[in-house]
Amino acid sequence: MGRFKDGRLLLLEAPLALFPGEVVEADVVWKTRHGEGRVARWITRDPRRAQASCSVAETCGGCELWEAGSHAQELKRQMATDLLRRQLGDAVPWTWHPAPETARRHRIQLHWDGAALGYFRRHSHTLVPVSTCPAAADPLSNAIPRLQEALAGRALPARPGRWELSTGTPAETVWVTDERGRTWALEPDGWHRSTGPIRHSLGEATLLHEPGAFFQVSPPWAAEAFGGLLRSWDIKGSTLYDLYGGVGLFSAMLGNRFHQRVLVESSETAVAWARRNLESAGLPSECLVADVAAWLPEGLGVSEDVILLDPPRTGLEPALCDRLATAGASTLVLVGCDGAPFCRDLKRLSSAWNLDQLAVLDLFPLTSHVECVALLTRRP
Ligand SMILES: C[S@@+](CC[C@H](N)C(=O)[O-])C[C@H]1O[C@@H](n2cnc3c(N)ncnc32)[C@H](O)[C@@H]1O
Repeated sequence: MGRFKDGRLLLLEAPLALFPGEVVEADVVWKTRHGEGRVARWITRDPRRAQASCSVAETCGGCELWEAGSHAQELKRQMATDLLRRQLGDAVPWTWHPAPETARRHRIQLHWDGAALGYFRRHSHTLVPVSTCPAAADPLSNAIPRLQEALAGRALPARPGRWELSTGTPAETVWVTDERGRTWALEPDGWHRSTGPIRHSLGEATLLHEPGAFFQVSPPWAAEAFGGLLRSWDIKGSTLYDLYGGVGLFSAMLGNRFHQRVLVESSETAVAWARRNLESAGLPSECLVADVAAWLPEGLGVSEDVILLDPPRTGLEPALCDRLATAGASTLVLVGCDGAPFCRDLKRLSSAWNLDQLAVLDLFPLTSHVECVALLTRRP
């Protein structure tokens, strides 16, 4: 967040990080009361700026904070402070949960243009060829040249397109999934067709899912961060309504803190895995394929229940917020990976729900993205 020389608010996207006080030249589009743009050139540079330890940091669209070096966490905390102050005002206390140095991505998306494999250049579909990725878990990074080799040698379908590389927890076997959802596992002698599943051992929870499906980007760190936070907030009760539940991460992590869980999720395959995951963990649950906004009834739950919502980036529909106002459950946990819709939803919920706790987790190191989590209790 910056200011134009006349004081107008500027929201700037800054490849390679932007330190408070730096003066930059930016391409800006002016809206009614503020401008939005991208940094094009630095006029003054903060001495804390570091040498990026990724050779394609300047062009690759995968990360944004390489030049923040050891100051990345402090910078990101400042970005979260700006966001929350702008959206919710000064008075709302919150806690910051920085990522450990060891957090790496267990899921990356590369593109093959018929000759080279790499990430897209920032704001473009031009390829930045890569042979390693320091933001990814080592087995994923090491698999990049093996994928390049297999595509160039036509051992894998060589039509241009997107390839997702993913691995479990701990990061060992690597899978690649093409745009048609076909999957191969990397073995010592090359890529072999496989359907997975990918297994994540996350403390006491074990979760399986198919390659190419949604799962947390840095699963060990996400499980540690969410688990620690929800335990510190003493989230427990009778029924957990795990809405937008995926393959059951929250239900499994919260385990015996609840007697029963109801998981609602729109992806049929995710729900099938959630059923298996929770059954293997011995956790009684009802897992439903449904659109949460269509499914959520008036007066959901009783006071000992907890409703946990982890929607996609766009957040909650207004009608859903209205229906939540009638819920019988007395505790609600809202998770959001985009701060602006998350804060908008908190404001929509505020007539019926009191904001008790707010936390910002750095689940996406080296990017400007954060995960926000709120604990709300029903107003008397
Ligand atoms: C941010 S992910 C969270 C998944 C899970 N809570 C986790 O942490 O692994 C959002 C999930 O919501 C699902 N989803 C998206 N729109 C939905 C909708 N309208 N109703 C139900 N589920 C939806 C997606 O398939 C995805 O699994």
